[in-house]
Amino acid sequence: MTVLVDELLTPIAPELVEFERRLEESVRADFGPMADAMEHIVRAGGKRLRPALVLLSAALGTPDRDHTFNLAMGIEFIHTATLVHDDLIDDALTRRGITTIHETVGVNPAIIIGDYYFAKGANLLASIGEPSIDLAISNTVMTICLGELLQLTSRRDYEQTLEEYHRKIARKTAALVETCCYCGAIVGQLDERRTEALRQYGYLIGMAFQIADDVLDYTATAAELGKPVGADLRQGTVTLPLMLALDESPSAPALQEVLAHEVLTDEDCEAVVRLVRQSGAIERTEAQAHDFAQRARAQLAAFDPSPARATLEQVCDYVVDRRT
Ligand code: IPE
Ligand code: IPE
Ligand code: MG
Ligand code: MG
Repeated sequence: MTVLVDELLTPIAPELVEFERRLEESVRADFGPMADAMEHIVRAGGKRLRPALVLLSAALGTPDRDHTFNLAMGIEFIHTATLVHDDLIDDALTRRGITTIHETVGVNPAIIIGDYYFAKGANLLASIGEPSIDLAISNTVMTICLGELLQLTSRRDYEQTLEEYHRKIARKTAALVETCCYCGAIVGQLDERRTEALRQYGYLIGMAFQIADDVLDYTATAAELGKPVGADLRQGTVTLPLMLALDESPSAPALQEVLAHEVLTDEDCEAVVRLVRQSGAIERTEAQAHDFAQRARAQLAAFDPSPARATLEQVCDYVVDRRT
């Protein structure tokens, strides 16, 4: 799996290489079994969207190098911890193209490893010595937990409103992306106005990113994503493509009929995916993701042109056009 899109990140390519080196070193420094369990998933990469946003946001100001790397690593470890627990909750077999941690080492160790990585991330962030960063990140982890809990308690709720969906994805995903940009602005020592613009940018990018993720769950292949597809529906997670397909599309009556089944079989799930794809809802969902991305782009007007700003602009296209 590649780190975002190589050419997109050319302006910070050397920093990303150094980030990977420090990340791996930090994982290896842990006690043997902890390092062994985690190094595969960390090495498997992922897109590194969050560290890239930290580095780019900081680059708009005048950051301390070590602080910036510790921030990027701390947030990536916390992100990885949420994935370890998310996959456990969802019974997912793969992540980043390899077997999930709970499948490899068992459920109980995976709970402990996830907890350890939340704390390891917080530890790195605390080393920066900036209380506003610690406040932002602890608040964000609480928000993510709320989002994940809401997702659990709203399984198979096909009546949920657009507002409820937005609130859920804001909590489970956009909050952390927002925090990447906000904390990046703090280490970059940006003034209040620019810090706020970046925070907003991060939130809007996070919303676009999760809506695109929800589309990919209906349209991509497991090989492209390195994680299961169609998983949301099987877990009863109702996302925007299905919500829009249920809302006045020609497929709505047929969808209602399948969704009324007491238990959704594999065939039922395949039928729902087919009906959602035929309904026009995918295009309408993509339009919403584009709308968030456009609003993110507008926030960058607060900054003078620079390579970092140009890359943040390209990230707006990347988050909605991505196939992985
Ligand atoms: C996965 O995040 C969880 C979501 C918010 C959709 P990413 O898609 O950024 O995961 P990696 O880090 O690239 O594996
Ligand atoms: C994950 O959202 C958000 C987290 C807090 C981890 P998803 O459930 O859509 O993420 P994937 O699709 O499993 O990566
Ligand atoms: Mg999941
Ligand atoms: Mg998903």
